[in-house]
Amino acid sequence: MEREEWDRRYAGDELLWRAEPNMFLVEQTADLEPGTALDIACGEGRNAVWLAERGWKATGVDFSAVALAKARHLAAARGVEVEWIEADVRTWVPPASFDLVVLMYVQLPSAERHSVYRAFAGAVAPAGHLLVVGHDTENLASGIGGPQHPDVLFSAADVVDDIEGSGLLVERAQQVRRPVATDDGEVDALDALVRALRPPA
Ligand SMILES: C[S@@+](CC[C@H](N)C(=O)[O-])C[C@H]1O[C@@H](n2cnc3c(N)ncnc32)[C@H](O)[C@@H]1O
Repeated sequence: MEREEWDRRYAGDELLWRAEPNMFLVEQTADLEPGTALDIACGEGRNAVWLAERGWKATGVDFSAVALAKARHLAAARGVEVEWIEADVRTWVPPASFDLVVLMYVQLPSAERHSVYRAFAGAVAPAGHLLVVGHDTENLASGIGGPQHPDVLFSAADVVDDIEGSGLLVERAQQVRRPVATDDGEVDALDALVRALRPPA
């Protein structure tokens, strides 16, 4: 989906996503000391704002100006500072390396995903982490919600392939279940999760 389509999706006062952080971000950062964090395709800012609340110096990047306006609003309401950057992550080059680089549900076509994920793996500082969570390929047949185009879905193994040669050490690469409330009760969405560490210099 291109920028204009995302801007249209984000139009209106309601949040498209929730104000609460992703459950796997909370789980996977519990053992990390706050430092600098980069949230790629941050949307309405739920994850970057949560990181800032926990003492991270957070930066969020997204190409939707409408989403970023909502992100600014959320940060102000929560009383935290986050640097928001309006940019296309397919071409944006980070100005520095970060202690944590997060890609949450960045469902790009596979050819674009490969180069983008690899580039942002390169933005992880020594002793820093990369955290990727996204809609798993198997979610289409066995999960719920998420994009319905197979080419924008991926497995943890796909992400491990994307970041191969980046110098990161894969700590976790697996399919994970995320409970979603429906009218018929709770159903599990299937996500792919990869956490990787750049060994200290
Ligand atoms: C499913 S939303 C996820 C938002 C956020 N990561 C979260 O978990 O709440 C995907 C986001 O990717 C952004 N996006 C998609 N393609 C992008 C691109 N090429 N450059 C920057 N942002 C992009 C969209 O604007 C949207 O905010």
